[in-house]
Amino acid sequence: MEERGTRLEGKVAIVTGAGATGEAEFVGIGQAISLLFTRQGAKVILVDRDERNAQITLSQIENEGGEASVFVGDVTNLESCQAMTEAAVQTYGKLNVLINNVGISGPGSVTDVAEDFWDTVMDVNLKSVMLTSKFAIPEMIKDGGGSIVNLSSIVGLRAGGGRPSHAYAASKGGILGLSNSMAVHYGRDNIRVNSIAPGHVYSPMVARHTDQELLDLRRRAGPLGFDGTAWDVAYAILFLASDEARWISGVTLPVDAGLLAATPLAMFPYLTGQE
Ligand SMILES: NC(=O)c1ccc[n+]([C@@H]2O[C@H](COP(=O)([O-])OP(=O)(O)OC[C@H]3O[C@@H](n4cnc5c(N)ncnc54)[C@H](O)[C@@H]3O)[C@@H](O)[C@H]2O)c1
Repeated sequence: MEERGTRLEGKVAIVTGAGATGEAEFVGIGQAISLLFTRQGAKVILVDRDERNAQITLSQIENEGGEASVFVGDVTNLESCQAMTEAAVQTYGKLNVLINNVGISGPGSVTDVAEDFWDTVMDVNLKSVMLTSKFAIPEMIKDGGGSIVNLSSIVGLRAGGGRPSHAYAASKGGILGLSNSMAVHYGRDNIRVNSIAPGHVYSPMVARHTDQELLDLRRRAGPLGFDGTAWDVAYAILFLASDEARWISGVTLPVDAGLLAATPLAMFPYLTGQE
């Protein structure tokens, strides 16, 4: 039986990209966040452009006795972003928490990326944070403040391995700069804005697109040496969303098995030799 509690009791949250991308306990990050939030008493608007995926997350939540609603929409669309905040207020009376989880990637360095694809990644990953926040923040202020958590990546701080995805890196770095400025400029409104930098998470999306050799290297690159899942990321977000983090704003929290603490040489023996 899943753990239940009251850490988000009385809160209304929007989670973008909340649709199911995996199966059973092997869940995507947005799905894990939504399940943990409702287990801790929040009412959640499950935003996804894929209705089927969102409905799966909803039925999991309802089976557990939690409360949530599906909002089908695209986070790159201004009207959708306005309507999702309106849905929160109309359905549950207010809005306290916004989790900008949607993110896409794809290969391409600056010398070979198609301009259209660059723009799409920027729109989905970075512009969406502005669009959702534009409508969420005024509603949060009406209820005395709120918490925004934006999903960046370790790739927003350091170059990633494998094939380059420069648009992804730029968008995830942009999220950090934007989050810091939002934290400062809405601080007196009691709006907290923090970022999460997930590392080599073993998520359904990653499992689908990565071969076994690379999956193994991703795991070995972390000082802890074992795989992290969407649940590990979701637990960090639960803390930042809750009032337990009421004095924490403008931070970037890596959830990465210690990867950012290590130089490449520090991990060399673990990547090349016996573990
Ligand atoms: N999985 C990892 O290893 C990893 C590592 C670093 C950062 N991240 C970040 O974590 C976040 C979640 O990643 P994930 O792979 O677990 O995905 P996820 O499983 O949380 O699913 C993403 C969901 O977003 C939805 N979506 C995509 N584009 C959308 C749009 N324009 N509007 C509305 N919904 C949309 C998809 O339908 C899908 O249901 C992303 O921002 C990603 O960049 C993931």
